[in-house]
Parts: sequence; structure tokens; C-alpha cells
Amino acid sequence: MNTPPATLTLLISGSGSNLAAIINAIAHKRLNARIERVIADRDCAGKQHAFSADIPFTLIDRHLPPNEFAEALNHAISEQTNLIVLAGFLSIIPKRLIARFPKKIINLHPSLLPKYGGMGMYGKKVHQAVIKAKEQESGCTIHYVDQGIDTGEIIAQARVPVYLQDTPETLQQRIQKQEHELLIHTLITLLHPKAF
Ligand code: GRF
Repeated sequence: MNTPPATLTLLISGSGSNLAAIINAIAHKRLNARIERVIADRDCAGKQHAFSADIPFTLIDRHLPPNEFAEALNHAISEQTNLIVLAGFLSIIPKRLIARFPKKIINLHPSLLPKYGGMGMYGKKVHQAVIKAKEQESGCTIHYVDQGIDTGEIIAQARVPVYLQDTPETLQQRIQKQEHELLIHTLITLLHPKAF
């Protein structure tokens, strides 16, 4: 690969399994990219992946006054970043950041949007709602971030079956496996379109 690596900024709040999937894809040269910074809005297990891979890490407390939170986030993301990945980031992205990086912020959501998205629909709550509604399939979505919650243009989706005996946990695990693969594939497509 002679082209310079694309630069990514990752925003996380949780276990960071998607961050780990990206680190792994870069290490195995599936993805020609460099993570220039991982930003978390709370103390979370995911930071360990950044530490182990020597990636600069910034904690920006979600309890900061909104203006200070927005300012700190804005400051932490460099102009050169090619793509900002919200990998389980639970805070609302400040409007000024969306305006600064049009079509450069993507989000992962563990349902087939537009179903089961919006305010309060995150983590296990999504899977509980899917099971309660007796859906026969669910999945995950990668979309651009716009001013709404889970409303931006859809880039890619992957589907999984929902089984009668599923619990939110088993469904979440099945979806996460697909999500990691979908994320890497989407990043390759967005960052290196000539590879296709
Ligand atoms: C993912 O399931 C994603 O869909 C949602 O948050 C979860 C993050 O998981 N937005 P992880 O922290 O990457 O393990």
C-alpha cells in the first residue's frame, strides 16, 4: 500500500469492541488507516484498547456544561481527521461539530434503522424492544450523523434473525458480530473506494 493511511477519530462510551475491531483490521492491514485519537465521554472499559495500542486518549466528562463539553470535543478533534466514528458514543454530538465535519461523522446503531432508533434507544433497550415486538429479524446500521438522533443518511446495514428463545443479551451478541464486520467493510469502502 503506497497511499498514506487515512486518519480516524474514535468516540466511545462503553466496552470498545468496535474500537478493538478497527485496531485489529489496521494491524492485519485490511484497513490502511491510523487512529489519531480515541475520545471517551466517561470512564469506560474501552479506553484499555487505546492504551494497549498506544493511541492518544482524551476523556471529556459528559457532565460538563454543554458549552464546555462542545468546546472540549471540538478542540480534541483535528482538522486533518478523515472520519469520526461514533463507536458506542452515548452523548449527543454538538451541532457545531456536525457543521464543522459534514458527512465525516458516522454512527453505529444496533437495529435496522429507522426502526428502533431515536431518543432513549440504545444498548439493551433496543434489543428488548425488538424482542417485545416479536420481530423476526434485526440487525445494525451505519449512518452519517445529522442534527437528529439516528436520523442521518444510511450507509450500510446488516441483518440477523431473531429467534424465539432470544434474550436481549443473545441478540446483542449476534448483532455485534455482524456489526464489527460491517464497520470494517464500510470503512474500507468509504476510505479506500478504489479498492472496489
Ligand atoms: C454497539 O453495539 C453500537 O451499535 C452501539 O453501541 C455499541 C458499542 O459497543 N451504538 P462497543 O463499545 O464498541 O463494544
